[in-house]
Amino acid sequence: MKAKTVKANWSLRTKKFSLPSVFLLCIFFFLAGFFGFSFFHHSQEDEYGVRVRLLEKSVKDETEHRLLHAGKSGDNFITSIPFQVLSWNPRALYFPNFASAEQCDRIIEMAKAELSPSRLMLREGETEEGTKGIRTSSGMFISASEDKTGLLEVIDEKIARAAKIPKTHGGAYNILRYKVGQKYNSHYDAFNPAEYGPQESQRVASFLLYLTDVPEGGETMFPFENGSNMDSSYNFEDCIGLKIKPLKGDGLLFYSLFPNGTIDPTSLHGSCPVIKGEKWVATKWIREQLHYDV
Ligand SMILES: *[C@@H]1O[C@H](CO)[C@@H](O)[C@H](O)[C@H]1NC(C)=O
Ligand SMILES: *[C@@H]1O[C@H](CO)[C@@H](O)[C@H](O)[C@H]1NC(C)=O
Repeated sequence: MKAKTVKANWSLRTKKFSLPSVFLLCIFFFLAGFFGFSFFHHSQEDEYGVRVRLLEKSVKDETEHRLLHAGKSGDNFITSIPFQVLSWNPRALYFPNFASAEQCDRIIEMAKAELSPSRLMLREGETEEGTKGIRTSSGMFISASEDKTGLLEVIDEKIARAAKIPKTHGGAYNILRYKVGQKYNSHYDAFNPAEYGPQESQRVASFLLYLTDVPEGGETMFPFENGSNMDSSYNFEDCIGLKIKPLKGDGLLFYSLFPNGTIDPTSLHGSCPVIKGEKWVATKWIREQLHYDV
């Protein structure tokens, strides 16, 4: 009896529970599904819409806020050239992927047939014979105006932007080839008037465009980086200090002068001997005064 009551109660409760609750559950899931889907769908659309708007906004913002009306010789676009600061003493900046591999190959082709042994600017009292072995590369000079393909003009333009000095201050390219064992002892690109006499147009900065990878050796080195090794014990053949491994298409810019125009003693640099492979580099000196090479 007791059990029956319980059972009846239970079945009554189940009955009470089951019919409307199943109905309610159905409605609930239907509504949840419907609104849930549309809510989800809507929110996705919204999120997408917001993203798109943000993108448009930032692009528009850049155009509105950053691109100014340029002067007569300026650009109607923004230039972006990625670089890494390698050192502030000397001021040395690295430009990965400055030129394409194809551009590098074309520059090597231009130079190949016309190489001759590289020369040195001599100090008072120095002789060619006495300075033999300091610089053992071969090279040639070619200016943008001599290159009818227009490639060197493109590189000129890019170097001017990188250095923020007009291309009229750059001379011809010195295209250099270093074979195994060839090197350039440490030296300054700027000429100290005390040693070389008064300078009409000092070299302010140098841009090196590496035209080949060098598997071993051939680094550009700055032995006095940060003021190190500056005591008189330094041997100008020693390959020490900040070393930059040549990588095809990458550029290196360094300044030989301080902003006040005096020579930065830490800009002393050289080319370590090539151990494996061949090093090709295009060098451009950027000068104080207008400089036209033809
Ligand atoms: C180079 O100079 C900077 C700043 O003067 C200093 O923090 C750093 O330790 C120096 N590095 C070396 C290797 O001397
Ligand atoms: C030029 O600048 C360098 C580096 O800031 C400084 O050491 C030097 O004393 C300055 N020389 C002159 C003459 O102002």
